[in-house]
Amino acid sequence: MSSARFCSTMRAVLGAAFLALALWMLERVVAFDMTRNDNLAVYWGQDGANSQQRLSYYCKDSTIDTIPLAFLYIFRGTGGEPVIDFANTCNQWDDPVYSGTALANCSFLAQDIKTCQAAGKIVTLSLGGGTGQVGFSSDSQAQSFADQIWNLFLGGKGSIRPFGDAILDGIDLDIESGTAAHYAAFVNRIRSNAGLTGLTASTFAEARANATAHASATSHHRAASKDSKDSKESKPVVDVTNANKYYYITSAPQCPYPDAYIGGALNAAHFDAVYVQFYNNYCGLDQPSDYNFATWDNWAKTVSPNKAVKVYIGAPGSADAAGEGYVGVSTLANYVSDAQKKWSSFGGVMVWDADTAYTNNRFDKGIKTSMVASGAKLAPKQALRNETTTHTVTTTKSAEDASSSKPVEKPRAKSRFFRL
Ligand SMILES: *[C@@H]1O[C@H](CO)[C@@H](O)[C@H](O)[C@H]1NC(C)=O
Ligand SMILES: *[C@@H]1O[C@H](CO)[C@@H](O)[C@H](O)[C@H]1NC(C)=O
Ligand SMILES: *[C@@H]1O[C@H](CO)[C@@H](O)[C@H](O)[C@H]1NC(C)=O
Repeated sequence: MSSARFCSTMRAVLGAAFLALALWMLERVVAFDMTRNDNLAVYWGQDGANSQQRLSYYCKDSTIDTIPLAFLYIFRGTGGEPVIDFANTCNQWDDPVYSGTALANCSFLAQDIKTCQAAGKIVTLSLGGGTGQVGFSSDSQAQSFADQIWNLFLGGKGSIRPFGDAILDGIDLDIESGTAAHYAAFVNRIRSNAGLTGLTASTFAEARANATAHASATSHHRAASKDSKDSKESKPVVDVTNANKYYYITSAPQCPYPDAYIGGALNAAHFDAVYVQFYNNYCGLDQPSDYNFATWDNWAKTVSPNKAVKVYIGAPGSADAAGEGYVGVSTLANYVSDAQKKWSSFGGVMVWDADTAYTNNRFDKGIKTSMVASGAKLAPKQALRNETTTHTVTTTKSAEDASSSKPVEKPRAKSRFFRL
């Protein structure tokens, strides 16, 4: 073979290999990974720019990783069922409700939810919001409500399933009204219903891998040997036979620390991530000198029961999405690269909301692109090892400032309205 011929053959082979690789990368669905520090969570449901599309529209590309549906805003409505409202897409006024309740039947969204999940995203239900009628009077009431939520939207069963046969991936608590008590009991009950008590997303994945390895080792062993004594294998450390899916618990506290409504629960129960609202407050992205991510990083590492909890930078999707605190993509990207370098608790960005971000020149895509360029998977063990006191001095000061100066809460974002 002449060397010219050889080269062109090699070029063809390499070209085909490259094409195959490119196609594989395009088709590969990357499952959601909470340990990364470049995840993007974008709220959907409140029609922030008056042009909200149905849910699946926002799952056509790989930009968004997590979509909290906003909101379930009344805990105990007519007939004892909660009330959900997704503005122009589904609500109790324009859509059928379950008999004797004000709970809309949004089961036409089942396919949208499954489309988003099939694309490797997680879809959760956000409870609360700026106009929420929420709260509990006792732990037992919170636990009953957790059972109700489990049966309506998560892994439980019941005659009412507002999203049809879709099973959501978890619950987000955006509590901005009512009383602060008993939310830890709610979270604990959801997690115990899910069989996840004591597990994080990472240990769940590990335990499942162990169980699978154990099962295949056992069946292989049985096939190879009929000796019944030998088939008594050691049990997996954590029994996950009842937990076939991980359910995420997140929250969207406002940046003043501790949060007035959900702060107590954040310190007492397992959360997988907090989407800190760095807007509409003195500690927002538009106030660099009072921006207090370090305080939240310190909370994650020293106070949160889940030391692998991720802290997201919550940002408005456009200047209209919040009363104040909007910054452009390049400014937010600076906050992100700074956080990726400094804080092992950093998990990514939360944007309020999908409609404003899309309308604002795909703000979501802009920040995701920049985040991924410098992002990484941070193994939970590495995150745990980094329990340094590097930020203690500044965080202690910020925490003191926050508690002594009692920040006045600014009015809520005007996009958090309901057509009631
Ligand atoms: C909910 O709506 C779907 C159609 O979107 C319908 O098939 C189903 O019967 C409804 N469920 C109830 C209990 O009304
Ligand atoms: C998985 O198996 C390894 C090795 O046996 C063990 O050290 C680890 O604790 C197990 N993890 C879980 C979550 O069960
Ligand atoms: C965590 O600690 C390791 C070892 O000290 C260090 O190399 C790494 O940069 C740290 N990561 C973060 C995100 O702080």
